Amino acid sequence: MKNIVIVGVTGGLGSCLAKEYLDEGCQVFGFDIDEGDICSCLQNERFSFGVMDIASDSSVSENAEKLCRKISHIDILIHCAGILPQNSERQLEDFEVSEALEVFNTNALGPLRVTKMLLRLVKASDAGVIVNISSEAGSMQAHADYIIRYDYCMSKAALNIQSIILQRYLEKDKIRVLAVHPGWMQTKMGGQEAPLKPSDSAKQIKRLITRHQYDYHNRVLMDYNDKIRPW
Ligand SMILES: NC(=O)c1ccc[n+]([C@@H]2O[C@H](COP(=O)([O-])OP(=O)(O)OC[C@H]3O[C@@H](n4cnc5c(N)ncnc54)[C@H](OP(=O)(O)O)[C@@H]3O)[C@@H](O)[C@H]2O)c1
Repeated sequence: MKNIVIVGVTGGLGSCLAKEYLDEGCQVFGFDIDEGDICSCLQNERFSFGVMDIASDSSVSENAEKLCRKISHIDILIHCAGILPQNSERQLEDFEVSEALEVFNTNALGPLRVTKMLLRLVKASDAGVIVNISSEAGSMQAHADYIIRYDYCMSKAALNIQSIILQRYLEKDKIRVLAVHPGWMQTKMGGQEAPLKPSDSAKQIKRLITRHQYDYHNRVLMDYNDKIRPW
């Protein structure tokens, strides 16, 4: 049975991805900063949940140690956790630069921290995959022309280069690394006016992971619908 780890599992996209993999018969280990409203669709004996703050070294290492005692390998590690704070919407004159540290610590360093602590388990898979859920906001050529959101855009650009470095480093271990823009989705972060249901994005992301699992030399950044997203 495949072991899937999803971080940010109570969120809009995370819960839909978890459901997709449970429907396929996988074992899903979900983490989030709090239990929140865990979707009833995840009530399944193959689902387990842990509270983990990806912005905290101690929380991540504690959870990673527990997981290492429980399972021998991770087939797919998906990073969905992220934040887009209200003050992200301010123009530069009103933007508190030091408040961006939390966004960086969560969106960019959070996935790296978790990947580092769980790498041993991903390496133990026959063909591990690490998926960083990124954003068009981190693309320098094709982002949404924001004149705000310095923190969020910069954190996702940092996540993109992290994904490239990781792919180069982990190719020798036959681990595929992907950075995926999930589309503008109807979630707590995306708002209800967004055009895409997270369940539709999740289905396409799952397909994309399967399709690109072994092409270690192919592109790293892509859209949920398998279109090229320029850097
Ligand atoms: N929605 C969109 O349109 C959109 C577009 C492009 C990219 N994305 C990216 O897609 C991913 C999923 O977003 P979503 O729309 O599903 O957002 P969401 O519903 O807000 O889910 C994000 C989840 O991450 C959790 N989280 C926040 N900080 C955390 C931490 N320090 N440790 C652990 N978990 C933490 C959140 O918990 P709380 O709710 O308690 O904060 C929430 O459950 C994010 O990386 C986002 O940047 C989203």
